Amino acid sequence: MNDIQAQVRAHYPDNTWQDIAQRDGELPPVLATQSNPQQSTADIPFDRYTSRAFFEREIEHMWKRVWQYACRDEHLPEVGDYYVYDLARLSIVIVRTEEGLKGYYNSCLHRGTKLKPSGDNGWSPSLRCPYHAWEWNLDGSIKNIPCDWEFAHLDRKKACLPEVRVDSWNGFVFINFAKEGPSLLEYLEVLPEHFKNWDLTGWYVHGHVRKHLSCNWKVVQEAFMEAYHTPFVHPEMTHVVGDHNMQHDIFSDHISRDLCAMAVPSPTSNMKMTEQEMLDSMLVGDAKMVGERTIVPEGKSARWVMAEQLKTKMQQEYGLDYSDFSVPEMIDSLKYNVFPNVIFYPAPGLALIQLFRPDGHDQDRAIFDIFTLRPKPTDGSDFDVAQPIDIVEGEGFASKGGMDPFLGGVLDQDTEIMRWQREGMYASGKGAETLSTYQESRIRHVHDTLDKYLDGRK
Ligand code: FES
Ligand SMILES: [Fe+2]
Repeated sequence: MNDIQAQVRAHYPDNTWQDIAQRDGELPPVLATQSNPQQSTADIPFDRYTSRAFFEREIEHMWKRVWQYACRDEHLPEVGDYYVYDLARLSIVIVRTEEGLKGYYNSCLHRGTKLKPSGDNGWSPSLRCPYHAWEWNLDGSIKNIPCDWEFAHLDRKKACLPEVRVDSWNGFVFINFAKEGPSLLEYLEVLPEHFKNWDLTGWYVHGHVRKHLSCNWKVVQEAFMEAYHTPFVHPEMTHVVGDHNMQHDIFSDHISRDLCAMAVPSPTSNMKMTEQEMLDSMLVGDAKMVGERTIVPEGKSARWVMAEQLKTKMQQEYGLDYSDFSVPEMIDSLKYNVFPNVIFYPAPGLALIQLFRPDGHDQDRAIFDIFTLRPKPTDGSDFDVAQPIDIVEGEGFASKGGMDPFLGGVLDQDTEIMRWQREGMYASGKGAETLSTYQESRIRHVHDTLDKYLDGRK
């Protein structure tokens, strides 16, 4: 145990995430581990969020060199299916071809027109520019040029659509603008090992809400990298979420995580609840997931009951066997960040993905996508991959029916505070933020890795 881990234990005696998680039984090794490397304590300047020059350095030196999650395999099941992924002003068309997935710069080789509109997805037998109808085969080779006698000077062999790298892991499709560099699996470091119990390849996007926000993409992401704010921004949650005592781990340049206990009070909560009262209060928000009211057996916890109920429900509903899973794997929030901009929350029968991107060439605009994944029906029946529901600032997450109202309300609290933070960064007389050493350590870690890309150390 290092210094910072000892300090956390001293502040939350018998009440760290590890203490809570191990109360109901042994944990799998990946959850029993902790990792907190030494970090700097220096302030972080606000111009990393507000400066146009910094934003442009991020694009050139970081965004163009990292693997980034774009869509899911089930968005492109058939040859000819395509999905447009946008990042700032960059845009890629990912296409399912006979040879697998390919990613092309979304720009015509004639006079540059986008081949497919931003945010679009669908099916098409070829890629045909809407302006003068230059057309490419799905494999990227040129198919047709109207009035081609006027282009005798064009080398047809060099008229293939320029490609980016595309690869997928666990049903998630990633792209990378850089031709060289680590493979996706190398880039994901410890993540595949930690997801051994979470095979999401047979799952599909069941819900997709896309919110457009007026702040830097890091401001949005960072609200989901700490629970320091939870008692103050989401006070209604403090009796059922272990916020300040949750566990933060930093494994490597690209992977960090937090583990947050559910159905336990926050260390900031004075409310005393029996296990039965705790269970009853959890059912208010999670009734659909957990089922009918149940009595907590003598000697057991609300957490244990919820885990058991969910195991039964998952077996009945999806034929999924979670009998060997620990209580935390069933009910806690296990949240993995992949640098630079995606968070994967695996959970039984319901996984959540949050994606944060610059929106256009503007450091003050972000796109925040939330995908919910469900297992595909086991009886082979049809399912629809959700199309994104677009929401603008000021509209609630649940306003267009794409999200559970309770979760939507919590996310509305988060996005409201982000706007205040963005405005305050510009209004600052100090010009920098001072991060806490543990609860905000993973925010610092993202900045540290970002610096490695900006400085050419990665
Ligand atoms: S710009 Fe695409 S065909 Fe002319
Ligand atoms: Fe929050």
